[in-house]
Amino acid sequence: SANETPAGQPPTATYDSAFLKACRREPVPHTPVWFMRQAGRSLPEYHKVREGIAMLDSCTRPELVAEITLQPVRRHDVDAAIYFSDIVVPLKAIGVDLDIKPGVGPVVAQPIRTRADLAQLRALEPEDVSYVTEAIGLLTRELGPTPLIGFAGAPFTLASYLVEGGPSRTYENAKAMMYGDPELWADLLDRLADITAAFLKVQIEAGASAVQLFDSWAGALAPLDYRRSVLPASAKVFDAVAGYGVPRIHFGVGTGELLGLMGEAGADVVGVDWRVPLDEAVRRVGPGKALQGNLDPTVLFAGPRVVETKAREVLDSAAGLEGHVFNLGHGVMPSTDPDSLTRLVEYVHTQTAR
Ligand code: CP3
Repeated sequence: SANETPAGQPPTATYDSAFLKACRREPVPHTPVWFMRQAGRSLPEYHKVREGIAMLDSCTRPELVAEITLQPVRRHDVDAAIYFSDIVVPLKAIGVDLDIKPGVGPVVAQPIRTRADLAQLRALEPEDVSYVTEAIGLLTRELGPTPLIGFAGAPFTLASYLVEGGPSRTYENAKAMMYGDPELWADLLDRLADITAAFLKVQIEAGASAVQLFDSWAGALAPLDYRRSVLPASAKVFDAVAGYGVPRIHFGVGTGELLGLMGEAGADVVGVDWRVPLDEAVRRVGPGKALQGNLDPTVLFAGPRVVETKAREVLDSAAGLEGHVFNLGHGVMPSTDPDSLTRLVEYVHTQTAR
């Protein structure tokens, strides 16, 4: 399990890192910090290396992926790296005709609306994403003791793009399928669970030290519907990777009413957005799990004094927790001043040094 040193092996510096200790709810030298979307558009060095290369093409180039993943680690001194990719990469890898449109997000050529459309979703084989294995090999060497977080989109969030055909505010087509044709919906999510599990396994076997399942848009669902129509697929993903002993993080936005269920799905660490204070979130999640979060990403636009005051509030609300990973409540916004992120990491480290 994630709480044991792998049998017969001495603990490595990575295993003993503050981030993995916090995930395992062990005492830490300082509260570890990383940021969702820490790699990417907030960094000028990212724009420089991405120039003229389409997002999805960049994800298939191991040297470029490794460089982009390392950029925020060098700049901010964060406690973990997150593998540079996107949630739609495994779908593209099995041949789904989709693209990421700048300023829009993932767009799917043939939205999945009928049983026949499921044929687009074949199983993912490790060879489909050999560039991931290669990039993680480069990264684990370069990162030294800093853990690498692998990630994937959760079945519901992936289904939202596949059924809508692109980003949506209301998810009317996806929810119409979920309510109106529960069998087709269950089969769609089950296929996505298998693809997601296979993709996470590739990352773990290549050297990722933790994995995060992004169910970014699950907050659109009532608890009863989440439990009945989404949780079984996400639980299948978590179960499939349980045997590796790497911490499993589960995150969504606007999921205050789902935090207990998201823990129940099989997470070791539950990600919390900024809407629920961590001392309340821990009551909703229940015992035995670490929490990750949860500074409002827009606070970074309000100036250094405000960032410290609001970061202090997050640390105070986490004071009684066993296992806290400091993060934002959602991803870094592209126009964020990267220096404000560097200062925030330093603030959390110095405030929590033990
Ligand atoms: O550092 C990291 O966190 C890794 C980078 C990362 C990307 N996508 C790179 C990216 C991660 C973790 C993701 C996950 C992702 N992708 C999610 C879940 C996280 C979340 O924010 O909730 C979602 C919902 C997506 C789908 C997606 N891909 C969106 C909504 C967008 C933005 C579209 C836009 O242009 O506004 C993308 C594109 C994308 N993924 C970019 C990056 C750096 C921007 C494209 C570019 O740089 O050209």
